[in-house]
Amino acid sequence: MVDRCVCRNVPFTELKKLADAGIRDVDELSRRTGCGTGCGMCIPYIRVMLQTGVTDLPVLFEKQIDAILNERDRKE
Ligand code: FES
Repeated sequence: MVDRCVCRNVPFTELKKLADAGIRDVDELSRRTGCGTGCGMCIPYIRVMLQTGVTDLPVLFEKQIDAILNERDRKE
């Protein structure tokens, strides 16, 4: 499962708390916690977490991530 930024050891639960407090921008989350500033592999998962609220995600293919994120665009 993917539940954190491994490079900076930032759990998605911590990012969700910030998101719930209104910080929903990945760049701002990154500035505040350091998440996503290593290999960058967690960034798509952080976007999915922001979209779905799920903090413990299975390993996803890029197509699956795109489908989840595009679903948001269709709803907006
Ligand atoms: S896992 Fe987040 S930057 Fe590498």
